[in-house]
Amino acid sequence: MAKVRVRNTNELIEGEDNVRSFLDKQGVLYEHWNPTKLPERLQENFELSADDKSEILSTFDAEIRDLASRRGYKTWDIVVLSESTPNIEELLKKFEQIHTHTEDEVRAITAGEGIFIIRGDEATGYFDVILTAGDVISVPEGSVHFFTLTESKKVVAVRLFIETEGWIAHPYEDPAFVK
Ligand SMILES: [Fe+2]
Repeated sequence: MAKVRVRNTNELIEGEDNVRSFLDKQGVLYEHWNPTKLPERLQENFELSADDKSEILSTFDAEIRDLASRRGYKTWDIVVLSESTPNIEELLKKFEQIHTHTEDEVRAITAGEGIFIIRGDEATGYFDVILTAGDVISVPEGSVHFFTLTESKKVVAVRLFIETEGWIAHPYEDPAFVK
């Protein structure tokens, strides 16, 4: 289940309702899908064939279509990152640059873990959203953020888009951000 850590205060927010209400105030959509709907061999598996990826998408078809219809997302796919991903270190360096997009960045984690670092309102500043299997997040259009992996360096996620071009990252310089 997702957790939030507010960087300025080190406050840790846990529990589905607390996380949802914090993120809602920051304009970030948070939902939860049941990750145990996946057959066991696809839970915490990071070596996925094309058929495995299709099976993950069909397992969550109802959830994907429900979210897509509410939010206007039109296409979706599966992304897998692990230490066996070619150039994973380079990719992570690229991910860890602060940026914005011209549409929502939507991820539903189906295995592993990921972290979104998001700039909240002025009083809150940056916060980390630590996501595990079942967590669904939509980082709103124009929101200043970046994504990274946890120490385990493994994630499988469904990505939803309005159009894939919307995912292009626009770098954002923030001298106030401290890693
Ligand atoms: Fe992004």
